[in-house]
Amino acid sequence: MVIENLITKSEKETLKAGNNFAKSLNPGDIVALFGELGSGKTEFVKGICDFFEVDELVTSPTFTIMNQYNGNDKSNNEIPIYHIDLYRINKKEDLKEIGFEDCMFTNNAIKLVEWAENAENLIPRTSYSVEIKPSKDSENIRNIIISNNK
Ligand SMILES: Nc1ncnc2c1ncn2[C@@H]1O[C@H](COP(=O)(O)OP(=O)(O)O)[C@@H](O)[C@H]1O
Ligand SMILES: [Mg+2]
Repeated sequence: MVIENLITKSEKETLKAGNNFAKSLNPGDIVALFGELGSGKTEFVKGICDFFEVDELVTSPTFTIMNQYNGNDKSNNEIPIYHIDLYRINKKEDLKEIGFEDCMFTNNAIKLVEWAENAENLIPRTSYSVEIKPSKDSENIRNIIISNNK
């Protein structure tokens, strides 16, 4: 079910959209992010990490595949955040090597997965999907569609 359909006009607005969306997240949730390279998935993730007061610099895990951050929720409970980028993954064996499946089953953490389509059926259940579509008319405009799959 689509719960949000919005337009952002800058990187900052996408970050803010991620921050606002993060309110609905609970430990154990998996968020799948879809959209072409440079569409703004990582910016959206930065907004989520911002909401959970992540101190570390959030960068794209394109080469590291998986980054872990120590977040805190509004009641100051620790909440681990896994930021995963499967852009460079082209076979399931690669996912086994990095412990992807174990990570997906951690109930206390929030998991944010870019290029989730490359995981095939290794993602157990996605709580939310976020699709980011660049505009054909303007370089800085994005359409962000958020679905609740619960
Ligand atoms: N409205 C917007 N939302 C998000 N990013 C934008 C927007 N307009 C321009 N950008 C630029 O697009 C790029 C998005 O990069 P990034 O978030 O790393 O994309 P992805 O993770 O989808 O590959 C950044 O360089 C950012 O400055
Ligand atoms: Mg990215």
